[in-house]
Amino acid sequence: FALERPQKLEKSGWMKLLLSSRNLHKLEEIRAILPATITVDPWESDVEIEESADTFEGNALIKAYAGWQQKGIPCLGEDSGLSVPALGGAPGVLSARFAREPRSDFANIQLLLKQMDGLHDRSAYFTTVLVLVMNGNEFCFEGRVDGRIATDIQGEMGFGYDPVFIPEGYDQTFAELGPSIKNHISHRARALSKLMAFLNAFSG
Ligand code: IMP
Repeated sequence: FALERPQKLEKSGWMKLLLSSRNLHKLEEIRAILPATITVDPWESDVEIEESADTFEGNALIKAYAGWQQKGIPCLGEDSGLSVPALGGAPGVLSARFAREPRSDFANIQLLLKQMDGLHDRSAYFTTVLVLVMNGNEFCFEGRVDGRIATDIQGEMGFGYDPVFIPEGYDQTFAELGPSIKNHISHRARALSKLMAFLNAFSG
């Protein structure tokens, strides 16, 4: 690889990444999952970044390049969402805007529960795609967690569809299980663990 090194901080082995996102919940989870040696600063564009791609990878790439081009340091783009096979993969890349504008987690969940009313197959999965852009090179890391959609809202922690998503192997939603379990098994945790393996190999 002919790559720029992730920006080193004073202590050797520390690195700093930019996260191109307005979503503070994602930032909080990413910071909680990554080791303290990797600091993540948020970057918000003054201009709304248009997530115009029809894949998670495409949108993560748009976000990562926008931050990298503006700030010139390694930048992470993150795109994620919920897919429900019984709904043909919806809400998918449109997860944040499922019930349209104004964006509302509650409205999205209500619409999801309505569309799933009476459906026997309640299986679902979350996907996260992380794209790291360094020196104009891009690296992609994907994570997925399987589960099912509850029949009603349960729990108050987390964000987005957490109150209706029950991960495989559990009988409570992410919003009931809380961050210690969610950040261990989530789609985001799985994508971040691949990113960490890459960064370790790269800086080691
Ligand atoms: P994005 O900012 O376009 O990636 O939007 C992602 C959307 O997917 C969020 O607004 C949530 O609705 C949903 N989502 C992604 N990750 C999670 C999660 O960890 N829990 C619950 N909902 C999520």
